[in-house]
Amino acid sequence: MKTIIEPFKIKSVEPIRFTTAEERRRILHRAHYNPFLLRADDVMIDLLTDSGTSAMSAKQWAGIMDGDEAYAGSKSFFRFEETVRKLTGFKHIIPTHQGRAAEKILFSIVGGKGKFIPNNTHFDTTRANVEFSGAEAVDLPTPEGMQPDLIADFKGNIDLGKLAAFIRDKGAANIPLAMITVTNNSEGGQPVSMKNIREAKKLLARNGIPLFLDACRFAENAYFIKHRERGYSRKTVEEIAREMFSYADGCTMSAKKDALVNMGGFLAMNDDAMALQARNLLIVTEGFPTYGGLAGRDLEAIAQGLDEILDEHYLTYRIRSVQYLGEGLTRAGVPIVQPPGGHAIYIDAKRFAAHIPPHEYPGQAIVCELYTTGGIRSVEIGSVMFGKYDPATGRLISPPMELVRLAIPRRVYTQSHVDYVVEVILDVFARRASLPGYAITEEAPVLRHFTAKFAPLTKRTRRGK
Ligand SMILES: Cc1ncc(COP(=O)(O)O)c(C=O)c1O
Repeated sequence: MKTIIEPFKIKSVEPIRFTTAEERRRILHRAHYNPFLLRADDVMIDLLTDSGTSAMSAKQWAGIMDGDEAYAGSKSFFRFEETVRKLTGFKHIIPTHQGRAAEKILFSIVGGKGKFIPNNTHFDTTRANVEFSGAEAVDLPTPEGMQPDLIADFKGNIDLGKLAAFIRDKGAANIPLAMITVTNNSEGGQPVSMKNIREAKKLLARNGIPLFLDACRFAENAYFIKHRERGYSRKTVEEIAREMFSYADGCTMSAKKDALVNMGGFLAMNDDAMALQARNLLIVTEGFPTYGGLAGRDLEAIAQGLDEILDEHYLTYRIRSVQYLGEGLTRAGVPIVQPPGGHAIYIDAKRFAAHIPPHEYPGQAIVCELYTTGGIRSVEIGSVMFGKYDPATGRLISPPMELVRLAIPRRVYTQSHVDYVVEVILDVFARRASLPGYAITEEAPVLRHFTAKFAPLTKRTRRGK
């Protein structure tokens, strides 16, 4: 059969609260035109993130009841540890309350002034944690990854030529570790090939630099390898995932993605001395090493989720439903990052709203209009999220791409929800020339996109700029 169905039945549902466009206009104004400041109850289709928004399975909910809440030595921890160790092969498995807590501990140990951390592309919390430690976070994506409409299999790869030059330039002693983010979230959820991970490992090992994976979406990445890379079509996703981890010395993981839970994460590694330091920091900031900021029930749900994510019927449905959204938009000429990634569709805001310059935030303009038109919440990934001010001139330095991310929560929305999303986007696309740019009226010094306040620019306010 051609039709790919959701490999689950729905046992419990959550109602959507319907609002009118007029109500949403008022709501968005009250939220200062920032989707992070909306109440979730005012959102009809929430594509803000795929993080922590998964629907858990009956077995995960059963695990929640079965969780052992002992402070030390909980049986839920041992189930979690065994599952993660079997999958990743790492010696030390350290639970954390989410991915950024693992990053914070890792970079508190290896970061610091004068140190450099290369990555294919740092996610914003990873970059923030590297920079908070005093180190410099450096993105080394391939040129392919920077071309939104280029169709290629592994646009998430790290550029090995640039990595080699970077090591020569900065000196291996100043690079305590390198990371590869799978899939590459900030580059459109594009996968990284096994060849790229293997060759990066060889290059790093020659220079004595450990490799860590940012493994949030390891299963989606492994699925792409199975279907796109020569030599992997007969392997199971689990075997492929194990091979990916075998080239790494450790990983950070936000379990809120490919472990299908609403909260959780872990840090894993082989190095005993580093693990000792990590556990010491864990006790200060997260909790005892057998719970690390999580309840026993959360550890049960993560262990169960890590089994379920490797189900290839699930992954086929997952990747296909993201492609389905991409195809609906592409057919109508909406510019998106091609090909569709694993967890999200990224609208190319530079081309969608070509009349709005980067310093007037074209992505934010689209985000706001999708909300007022259809109650859809999305997020800007461009000059709002990654823009930096030039210390000399105060002018905004924009990242290379201006994107709007439509992240698809796992096992939450059906095909008709996706059809509705396509309809709303096409409606906005037809009116795109009338979208206003935006100005930031208030912002925090780091991770400003979470709390920044915006105002739409009118002809008058634009002239006054
Ligand atoms: C690639 C990547 N790394 C790290 C994180 C941080 O994870 P958390 O939100 O659990 O702190 C995220 C979250 O979206 C992510 O996408």
